[in-house]
Amino acid sequence: MDEKWEELKKECMGCAGCSLCSTRHSLVFGDGNPNAEIMLIGEGPGEQEDLQGLPFVGPAGKLLDSMLEMIDLDRSRVYIANIVKCRPPNNRDPKQEEQSACRRWLDRQLELVSPKLIVCLGRISAMALIDESFRITREHGQWFDVGGRRIMATYHPSALLRDVSKRPEAFSDLRVLRKEIKAVCTGTYNNDRI
Ligand code: URA
Repeated sequence: MDEKWEELKKECMGCAGCSLCSTRHSLVFGDGNPNAEIMLIGEGPGEQEDLQGLPFVGPAGKLLDSMLEMIDLDRSRVYIANIVKCRPPNNRDPKQEEQSACRRWLDRQLELVSPKLIVCLGRISAMALIDESFRITREHGQWFDVGGRRIMATYHPSALLRDVSKRPEAFSDLRVLRKEIKAVCTGTYNNDRI
């Protein structure tokens, strides 16, 4: 497992599969516990992530950490990756061809982590992993079974920074996640603190 993981990371770090490789500072492979039962998938690196080479380390990442803490999770108990591994210039949405070029890395990460639960952070991730016509305002907080994977979407932390009125809905999604963790994850996720 470790060897496969290192091999995947090494291969991915040299990727030149789309034009984002020419503007990136760092490729952001992913972070967290490769044996986690929960995987969080964002959209793509922002400025801080591009500079530091790690996912969700900017302002949205700080909010994500607090959200995880609310349900007794942290980065040692989840794996975090993005739909695209390189920052789209000026944080624009990743283009379809960039998402498609990058998808093979995410698919291999999903295969190796083999999470019991997947949480899409935001619309772009949900459209890529649940359904291309996914509507985040209507369908957040619901579980979907897609190709044998159990997936839910919630609002992207950046959206929650821009619009605080969405936060109660995001907190209710966290409660949905916590309930599912109790139902499907193993003992290490289910002590009395959750
Ligand atoms: N937004 C994302 O979608 N991913 C990151 O890694 C950071 C911000």
